[in-house]
Amino acid sequence: MLFASYGPQKYNESRHAISSVTAEMKGKKLLCLLLVSWWFCLGHAWLPRDTKIRGVNFGGLFIVEPWMMGDEWRSMGCASYASEFDCVKGIGQAAANAAFQKHWATWINATDIAQIKSLGLNTIRIPLGYWIKEDLVWEGEYWPQGGFYYLESLCRHATDAGLYIILDLHAAPGAQKAWEAFTGQMATTPGFYKDYNYERAIQLMEWLTNMAHTNPNFANVGALQLINEPLQNYGIVQSMLHNYYPNAWKRIRAMEDNLGVIPSNRLHIMMMNGLWGSGDPNEGLRGIDLGLSLYDDHHYVKWTASVAANRNAYIQHSCTDDRGGNSPTIVGEWSLSTADEDGPEFDIKRDDAVAWYRRWWAAQVLCYEKQMGWIFWTWKVNWINGHLEWRWGYQQAYEAGVIPQNPQDAHAYGVCNGIS
Ligand SMILES: *[C@@H]1O[C@H](CO)[C@@H](O)[C@H](O)[C@H]1NC(C)=O
Repeated sequence: MLFASYGPQKYNESRHAISSVTAEMKGKKLLCLLLVSWWFCLGHAWLPRDTKIRGVNFGGLFIVEPWMMGDEWRSMGCASYASEFDCVKGIGQAAANAAFQKHWATWINATDIAQIKSLGLNTIRIPLGYWIKEDLVWEGEYWPQGGFYYLESLCRHATDAGLYIILDLHAAPGAQKAWEAFTGQMATTPGFYKDYNYERAIQLMEWLTNMAHTNPNFANVGALQLINEPLQNYGIVQSMLHNYYPNAWKRIRAMEDNLGVIPSNRLHIMMMNGLWGSGDPNEGLRGIDLGLSLYDDHHYVKWTASVAANRNAYIQHSCTDDRGGNSPTIVGEWSLSTADEDGPEFDIKRDDAVAWYRRWWAAQVLCYEKQMGWIFWTWKVNWINGHLEWRWGYQQAYEAGVIPQNPQDAHAYGVCNGIS
């Protein structure tokens, strides 16, 4: 029904926006003219051919991480809690729903989509908790309700703007890591690695797959990420590699087959690159057609022990690093944060901080564009440690003059010339 109310006119426009970044879509559009049913025109399997993925994460929207948005968290009445789960349990369902709905409407919305588009970006990655599909939530689990409406609205605006959308299972049932707010909860143990939680995650993937192919608000969803940042412990993640990954692949594809999606319109399926340290993502996928796989590399130089905490070492590293591993790879999380971030080398209050950080931003862009491209973590932050920390927010870094209006300018700065 939603499809009918949306109307083919509008749909055409969004297709057009995509075709400006991909050659692939053009053929599909032609095919669409020949087909009677619009359903066949719901194409997703695109990636830019003549450009790179350049994007931002929507961190803190559907999973609040208090460290990067202290003011926001306080304004929601959650200041004394460490995670969403704790806050919902603490302040009660009704108060939490009201607080979170206000947050979803304002933290990142249509205004941001327009700005993202104006900054020459073409991709958004949206971290989601499994509770966005509310019937997956069990008794004794506490999550804010009503998020789907805002996700749908945001995806509609992103689709209209021609942005490529990656939906990322960022917070898995049971939590893929203990004591991490990015999982939405402060779990005492990583409870995800069990068949019943894999099943919940797969049901989420099937639901999102159906949405991407049948709800035009999600027309530009081109990839689903099976899980963000699982444990770096092979003994524990082995069952994920051999059970969750292949079964998720099969059931996403089965859903698409049931919907009559032609192979070239299938979704991309994203998994953490082997560089992450959770084993080889393809290990359990023998016999599966990996043609539409994508691999997610997260690279935070600040936590890369082999890189010395000084400016020259950072530039040298980013100009010469190879983020290969599994292919094709998108560097799906990175930032401008440094080790020793308030020390003499990296302090953002230095007179030359903006100029230097712009160079290092460009060096990272060059590095990640040797792969399929990049997605900055994150679009938006507010006060961290008492100051506006633009090293973690693309929007704030743009406003501070660190990141230029057009990210392709990175190629003109010559920051890596002569460095090998
Ligand atoms: C988005 O939220 C901001 C507040 O952060 C608000 O000023 C703006 O009007 C909102 N935009 C839309 C389209 O709702």
